[in-house]
Amino acid sequence: MNSKTTIALPSDADATGRDLGDEELALLREAIESGTLTSTKGTLVSRLEAEFGARHGGARAVACTSGTAAVHLAVAAIDPEPGDELVTTPVTDMGALTPILYQGAIPVFCDVDPSSYNVTAETIEPRLTDRTKAVIVTHLFGSPCEMGPIMELCDARGIPVIEDCAQAFDATYRGQLIGTFGKVGCFSFQQGKHMTAGEGGAVISSDPDLARRMFLYVNKAWGYGDAKPDHYFLALNYRMNEVTGAVCLAQLRKLGGVVQRRRKAAARFLAATADIPGVTPQGLPEGAIHSFWKLCVNIDEDAAGRGLTEIAKSLHGAGIRAAPRYIGKPAFECQVLRDQVTFGKSRWPYTDPSREGRTVDHDRANFPGVVKGLSQVLVIPWNEQYTDEHVDYIASHLRAAVSGSES
Ligand SMILES: Cc1ncc(COP(=O)(O)O)c(C=O)c1O
Repeated sequence: MNSKTTIALPSDADATGRDLGDEELALLREAIESGTLTSTKGTLVSRLEAEFGARHGGARAVACTSGTAAVHLAVAAIDPEPGDELVTTPVTDMGALTPILYQGAIPVFCDVDPSSYNVTAETIEPRLTDRTKAVIVTHLFGSPCEMGPIMELCDARGIPVIEDCAQAFDATYRGQLIGTFGKVGCFSFQQGKHMTAGEGGAVISSDPDLARRMFLYVNKAWGYGDAKPDHYFLALNYRMNEVTGAVCLAQLRKLGGVVQRRRKAAARFLAATADIPGVTPQGLPEGAIHSFWKLCVNIDEDAAGRGLTEIAKSLHGAGIRAAPRYIGKPAFECQVLRDQVTFGKSRWPYTDPSREGRTVDHDRANFPGVVKGLSQVLVIPWNEQYTDEHVDYIASHLRAAVSGSES
């Protein structure tokens, strides 16, 4: 291919890279014609929940308004005391962290493996304390965390695990779908995810008590269906509506194909780029199968002979919107967490009296894996609509960008 010819790649921001069509329209029509757009009375969201749960080993699913809401539901179901701690990753979306504070608990960060950017049992363990109420693991970019040792560690201490699967639909570890290892699995249906309605989310759980608390939480803790319903505890309205449910239901039925096509394109790309000096794929634990929300490579700048920023710039010149360093800095360096900007000037829950002055570690010197991982990751947009031509185009431009033959 002539490397000077720029081709337009499918994008998950519009119809070129989304699989939205007649199936979604048919279910939308059903929702609209029914005239019932609230899920408390309609059938589409409940059908979505039934199919989503069945797909995840018969877990109970509760649909909600976003991935952020999904994480909030999981934290609320665990029901921490004010000032309790949830151990989690600083390499994630802020929507996975702020719900912890809203629920009165403290995000305590652990390091990650610099090659996979994921938390591991080894990085979690030193952060566990007598205040640890749960551990949240995020399967970043579609690469599963090494769940065997993580579950062993947490089970041995009786600590529930929450899995953030927003980026990892259909990824597996030792043949088991991620989201089904921990007490709760959280998903996002935001525009760029494997399945989407623009916004939306869901949680799954096989623990009936946690599932019940999450069902209640999306409904302002109103006991729908109970003999003597009441508002049982502090909760919000996070219900998904029937219009969103219609789109999600159609998308769910396409999910298997979407993930398969992403995997096929990724296999072609990884084979084509395997010999580029200084370029290695995102780490993947043994027994895990990636679902390629994004395709990340690690760039060893010394071995590559070129800087990450220059490489990304070259790719941008070819219309490939690769993002160097993902979120740029660990989440604890964002203002909200760094300065503890929470409720008024209180800095609560960091200042909760039960904390007895305990602080949290936000010193990047203590997160070598995070610093290294973020310094070397190049996030390449990935899409189920990529053809062999698109994949070869990205691979050949990555090769040229690393060699400096194209700038
Ligand atoms: C890992 C992770 N968790 C949570 C979220 C929050 O999801 P939402 O944007 O749907 O609120 C995202 C969103 O991108 C995410 O990537």
